[in-house]
Amino acid sequence: MDAELQRQILPVETLDFESRMLDLVARKDLSTLGHSNRVAELTREWAEFMLSRGSWVGVDPARLESAARLHDIGKVMVPDAVLLKPGPLDPAERDLMNAHAEAGYEMVKSHRNESYAALAVRHHHERWDGRGYPLGLEGDQIPFQAQVVAIADAFDAMTEDRVYRKGRSPEEALVEIERCAGSHFSPVRVAEFVQFIHARNG
Ligand SMILES: [Fe+2]
Repeated sequence: MDAELQRQILPVETLDFESRMLDLVARKDLSTLGHSNRVAELTREWAEFMLSRGSWVGVDPARLESAARLHDIGKVMVPDAVLLKPGPLDPAERDLMNAHAEAGYEMVKSHRNESYAALAVRHHHERWDGRGYPLGLEGDQIPFQAQVVAIADAFDAMTEDRVYRKGRSPEEALVEIERCAGSHFSPVRVAEFVQFIHARNG
């Protein structure tokens, strides 16, 4: 059956948790949905690459992919006037936007077996130097899954075309991510990501 038709027929309670969450995103903002799906696919490919190299032992690519797909779920709680604003945000609007990390955590954590994803959602805007949000965690206080999602998130955001600008090339985005190793991102994760993108791009 066609997925769209199925979605209309099935009562929402029969959909799994992730599908229900993504349904909310789809209704709110299709560009966030596209971003979430791309970050999820990139994260899964990255995890599979690391496992094939004997790294990230014990990491489940499907679980990481699901965590990545939910990372911006809290944006459904951000007012449209802020989320969809085409120009720069003022400080009050920025606070409302930044609240998506904690709001998403609240949405995901209550669901059983979702604590792994909940931590990715809550901490994907933390920075390695402690200057991120919502808690200002630093270094390896930041959960592994959030360290990973932060990089995949930034890479997708930089390479994506927007209405007002063309996306950067993967090479340019990678240079920017490397520049932010140790300040914004985990240096170990950045080195791994560079390896992955180089291998992927041949
Ligand atoms: Fe985010």
